[in-house]
Amino acid sequence: PTANIGVVGLAVMGSNLARNLASREGNTVAVYNRSRSKTDELVAEHPEAGFVPAFSYEEFAASLQKPRTALIMVKAGGPTDAVIDELMNVFEPGDIIIDGGNALFTDTIRREKAVRERGFNFVGMGVSGGEEGALLGPSLMPGGPDEAWVTLGPILRSIAAVAEGEPCVTHIGHDGAGHFVKMVHNGIEYADMQLIAEAYDLIRRATGASPAEIADVFAEWNTGELESYLIEITAEVLRQVDAETGTPLVDVILDQAGAKGTGGWTVQTAIDLGVPVSGIAEAVFARSLSSHPEQRSISGALPGPDDSTGEHLTGADADAFIEQVRLALYASKIVAYSQGFDEIRAGAAHYDWSIDLGAVSKIWRAGCIIRAQFLNRIADAYEAEPDLAVLLTAPYFVDALTRAQDAWRNIVALAAAAGIPAPAFSSSLAYYDGLRARRLPAALIQGQRDFFGAHTYKRIDKDGTFHTLWSGDRTEVEAEDTH
Ligand code: 6PG
Repeated sequence: PTANIGVVGLAVMGSNLARNLASREGNTVAVYNRSRSKTDELVAEHPEAGFVPAFSYEEFAASLQKPRTALIMVKAGGPTDAVIDELMNVFEPGDIIIDGGNALFTDTIRREKAVRERGFNFVGMGVSGGEEGALLGPSLMPGGPDEAWVTLGPILRSIAAVAEGEPCVTHIGHDGAGHFVKMVHNGIEYADMQLIAEAYDLIRRATGASPAEIADVFAEWNTGELESYLIEITAEVLRQVDAETGTPLVDVILDQAGAKGTGGWTVQTAIDLGVPVSGIAEAVFARSLSSHPEQRSISGALPGPDDSTGEHLTGADADAFIEQVRLALYASKIVAYSQGFDEIRAGAAHYDWSIDLGAVSKIWRAGCIIRAQFLNRIADAYEAEPDLAVLLTAPYFVDALTRAQDAWRNIVALAAAAGIPAPAFSSSLAYYDGLRARRLPAALIQGQRDFFGAHTYKRIDKDGTFHTLWSGDRTEVEAEDTH
């Protein structure tokens, strides 16, 4: 056998990762695809890669050195299970099976257990960075057993993106930890994208600036504290002119956002864990709202401010407004990341993974979709205080939120007054104020729950659990704690 790693599934992500692997010193890559033509094509188009093609699972296994290491890049769900079964038929105990798809982490936990019981190593690995990242250097989030990491570490380090000299890969934790962290990455990606979209919409509607002019604003923002891949590509998308109509492309794209589901998983999981990822949830729901034209078409019937007749801000007023939007975006972004890291912290506690949050922020600095300057600040925060309970309470972020404060409130208020939907901006601010509040009206909710369901409450001034006899004489009695 000549290959030290193999790739199964040669669609664009699989073939790009295979090419990336093959381009690194010391790697020989076996490739297999269910339909033969993809394999033939890849091998013919990239003679420089020196691929070892296989046309059956037996051939694939025979071409791999031990411990055999196979990276599966097929559709998440049933197809992944099918390939795992095939590999287990031809592999031997100790061999390593990696799933690099966007699998749901609970599936990964299930698969890891089943595969381990048969003596193999299974690694669920998050891969971020899209097609280009796969080819030139992705951010990699492997879970799975320590034993597999010994073999995999050097190979993955060689193909990952590099941020300030450090490869963007770390062993996240056992079984589903890698896919869990990738899921939250995508949730943050949704929030980041929604916040940017709201910023664009606010600027356009308040100032009347053209998409190309707003592209310049984003390009400018990309030179400062907001510097990130998503801000950078936003400028590119806004600058694009449709060849057919000569109008900005963004004006001819149907305004209904798709989603493959990972953002929704982040929210569903957060609900199970009791973590308030409200910014991510708003981003997921904003996509859902956009995708219901039959509901949106009644909009003419709904009263509210009409910004099409309003005056646009100009000159210094427009500039000041744009700066306020920038600050509001930054503050809301801090909230989104803080919520995402909160979910990782809670997930690690629940599933018994020891996840280094600082290391997670570091491997997101390059290669992945949410790569940003900003992640250095998160890494600093966890370095200073590894057990930080709420990321946004780190001194750097408190300073940033102090600076952004007035602008953030102003923008949310202006959006509401002008009838411009800014769900992620406003919910981020509401979350922030929720954290700040000395008292929350949750006390009233406890009273209501006790009223209709005898659900009981606790008191601020003494221990114990209490119930008021609402349908009786309304005296308070000690009660069993029923939450
Ligand atoms: C990445 C991305 C990627 C994701 C797409 C599409 O990290 O490279 O997160 O994994 O699948 O961006 O996501 P949606 O179709 O759900 O927007």
